[in-house]
Amino acid sequence: MKERITVGIDVGSSQVVTVVGHRQEGETHPNIIGVGSCVGSGLRKGVVTDVEETVTAITSALEEAERMAGVPMENIYISINGEHIQSANTRGLVSIAARAEIGNDDVLRAIDSAQTVALPANREIIHVIPRMFIVDGQDGIKDPVGMTGIRLEVDAHVVTGSTPFIKNLQRTIEQAGVRITNFVLAPLAASTAVLSKKQKELGVVVIDIGAGTTGMVVFEDGDVYHSAIIPIGSGHITADIAIGLRTALSTAEQVKIEYGMASPITLSDKDTIDLSKFDKTEDQVASRRYIAEIIEARLIELFLMIKTELRKVGRDGMLPAGAVLVGGGAKLPGIVESAKDHLGLPAQIGFPIELHGMVDRLDDPRFTTAIGLMMWGMDETKTMPTYASDPNFGAVLSRIKNWFK
Ligand SMILES: Nc1ncnc2c1ncn2[C@@H]1O[C@H](COP(=O)(O)OP(=O)(O)OP(=O)(O)O)[C@@H](O)[C@H]1O
Ligand SMILES: [Mg+2]
Repeated sequence: MKERITVGIDVGSSQVVTVVGHRQEGETHPNIIGVGSCVGSGLRKGVVTDVEETVTAITSALEEAERMAGVPMENIYISINGEHIQSANTRGLVSIAARAEIGNDDVLRAIDSAQTVALPANREIIHVIPRMFIVDGQDGIKDPVGMTGIRLEVDAHVVTGSTPFIKNLQRTIEQAGVRITNFVLAPLAASTAVLSKKQKELGVVVIDIGAGTTGMVVFEDGDVYHSAIIPIGSGHITADIAIGLRTALSTAEQVKIEYGMASPITLSDKDTIDLSKFDKTEDQVASRRYIAEIIEARLIELFLMIKTELRKVGRDGMLPAGAVLVGGGAKLPGIVESAKDHLGLPAQIGFPIELHGMVDRLDDPRFTTAIGLMMWGMDETKTMPTYASDPNFGAVLSRIKNWFK
């Protein structure tokens, strides 16, 4: 039996990660057969700023994974991220002829009408995710096919992005010889890797703390309720430490990774770090407590921004399954407690669920988004992303149709 190979490439602000896997028919667990990563990505906050560096990083991360997997790369899903991303919940409406049974075509028409939001010039749709259907006023319907009615409505979550940024990313990735199957919003991909069905039903927010951005996706009743990209990431913590200690960014990064903590409360002034350990030209001895104070200040700002975003959609403190933290920034010791305190929600680190194969190589929150991209690809027929500017939009529509079969 030919197995469908699926590839996730997370083009983050700090690194590119590739994960390759397949899922045998009847199996629920994806099998990982290749992993590759490359530090540096030529992106800042999700936007390509150095084409050459991006092409090199993607090529390197892809080749490493390809060598390991020993199969050609196909069905390639790429992360999309950045401050330019916006989201909204919309409603689509169509009438059904003569009280007939609702068919796949009606559902597609309804979804189509949900995406005819007034898009400003230079913006395009990345996802239209149906949340629920409403038939003749009766809401909460997950699959209306086969029901009868005269009025079919759909509530959908629509994610849009800036066309120039997306086109630029697309072109750059294609320059690396990659044939893109689809783009997926980075934190949405990460959610696919770490969330259980139960958490999505109860209400949960996934927080993907990257280098340049923090992505969040709120789920409720099993579906996406809200998504947002906050332009602050763990790289800002590094920059704050560099300023606070008057030291180089590379030194600040190492100090953060080796000695950083989300809160200063357990540290005394006697805990010190000799910076010459990281940089021979340094003669400072820095206080760990002071560094933790710098980190804490930035984290509080970040969590407050997330809280504000939750408040905007009426879910502040209202998500029973709490917050699930992923991304490299989630590796900071004490961050779970900090999230609990400042979000007023239960919190935990998210770990990819149900994986087989080379799992030990993926034991790091920095890989979560790439794993999720691969899983999204495997599930695509279920989760139904659409990429409106896909040159082969017919193929996307046919995938949507498959979903309803
Ligand atoms: N052990 C650690 N402790 C604290 N922070 C860490 C640790 N390891 C990595 N980080 C931070 O995680 C960030 C990178 O995370 P990640 O790889 O998820 O980002 P990215 O996907 O490249 O960026 P973005 O999502 O913003 O595009 C860096 O800022 C790095 O300093
Ligand atoms: Mg990321």
